[in-house]
Amino acid sequence: MVNVLEKQVSVGLFGLGNVGTGIVKALDGHHDLIRKRSGFNVRLKTICVKNLKKAREVNTAKYRVTANSGHILDDPEISVVIEAMGGIEPARAFIMEALEKGKHVVTANKALISKHGQELFELAARNGVNLAFEASVCGSIPIIKSIRESFVANSISSIYGIVNGTTNFILTRMVNDGKSYESALEEAQQRGFAEADPSFDVGGKDAAQKIAILSMLAFNTPVDPDTVYTEGIQDLVSEDIKFAQAWGYVIKLIALARKADGEGIDVRVHPMLVPKAHPLANINGELNSVYLIGDLVDGQMFSGKGAGPLPTASAMISDVIDVMKSAALIRNFNSLPLVDINNLEFSYYVRFPVIDQPGVLCRIAKVLATDGVSIAELVQPTGNETVPIIIRTHKAKERAMRHAFDEINRLPIVKKGAVMIRIQE
Ligand SMILES: NC(=O)c1ccc[n+]([C@@H]2O[C@H](COP(=O)([O-])OP(=O)(O)OC[C@H]3O[C@@H](n4cnc5c(N)ncnc54)[C@H](OP(=O)(O)O)[C@@H]3O)[C@@H](O)[C@H]2O)c1
Repeated sequence: MVNVLEKQVSVGLFGLGNVGTGIVKALDGHHDLIRKRSGFNVRLKTICVKNLKKAREVNTAKYRVTANSGHILDDPEISVVIEAMGGIEPARAFIMEALEKGKHVVTANKALISKHGQELFELAARNGVNLAFEASVCGSIPIIKSIRESFVANSISSIYGIVNGTTNFILTRMVNDGKSYESALEEAQQRGFAEADPSFDVGGKDAAQKIAILSMLAFNTPVDPDTVYTEGIQDLVSEDIKFAQAWGYVIKLIALARKADGEGIDVRVHPMLVPKAHPLANINGELNSVYLIGDLVDGQMFSGKGAGPLPTASAMISDVIDVMKSAALIRNFNSLPLVDINNLEFSYYVRFPVIDQPGVLCRIAKVLATDGVSIAELVQPTGNETVPIIIRTHKAKERAMRHAFDEINRLPIVKKGAVMIRIQE
């Protein structure tokens, strides 16, 4: 029996890779569930791909599969466009054309939203349509919807967490199984959690794009991901994991955005020593987790799968329903400045590989003292020719600590591979 109140939605999909395939599976497998829950009869009509000859994991016989973008963009029946191609162009051009033609758009494209979000939201608003992007940050975790809807009445003071599954998988293997960085990365690649070229993830760039998007939502301020202070996990070694653990911490790659004291926002990505008792310390494997502090709700934590075809499809189909209900509008941006990390204060974990000879400790301590950095704890395990000196400092200004770190690295007794990791209080 036809439900007269039910609304028909015809969808055009760009991309049939990992995410596009997940969308086809989810829409095929859960069509009736989605219809009953939402009141929208979501029908995938056309799929646009690059290579028509490629074998596909899903049966596409009932859809129009094309390499011509016009078959979606010029089809008046299609009211929602899902972009699951990735990259900046031609995704940006297709999205702009769809918005200009009065179509709602759903995308998982963090690179595009973090770099060109403001321009696209303004275009959507001018054309009276919606642009939704839940899947661009932390896959299935409804963090964007929560900031925009559930916590709309809150002034958010900070939002931080583990937003990259690849690095969390690698760090978990290093902590739980004592693996080296290289062997943990290899396992991540074998299990599909890391790309053949992992640099975008392990270097922190992926997390920087995601925290830029979260900052934009939490503080109404577009943040260019290229201006976010970013460090990755490539320089960590098993020793860092071991000593962090002995001092009661777990190392995590943390993405953070918070209101700074005074004007501005503090947005950054870097490894941190997180106390073992902190909820984020127990988020393991490829999972993501975001911790948000709002003035009315206090701390709230969200955890779950941050990537993968089906979790991503779950978020995108939810967005399809939201854009149809007009629940995905973004407007009114501020322009708060980013604070300079050099003016912030942290305690630090530092490790210097040094030549094992008398007087080394003294020379390092002298540089730290000259820059006003005081030592809270120091360990010097025995070794062969090169030994590590591991130091936990009291709180110091980043500018002073960075200066001391660079000075110490210039000493002839210090070998390559020193690390400096901030400690979460
Ligand atoms: N993978 C995840 O778990 C995940 C999670 C969250 C967000 N995302 C985001 O989702 C997006 C897609 O990622 P993915 O992993 O699915 O990528 P992917 O596997 O590389 O798939 C890309 C798809 O886009 C199609 N495509 C490329 N250029 C095209 C063009 N000019 N016209 C039409 N189609 C074109 C490709 O067509 P052919 O198949 O014909 O080559 C392919 O089907 C990215 O923005 C990514 O950041 C991914």
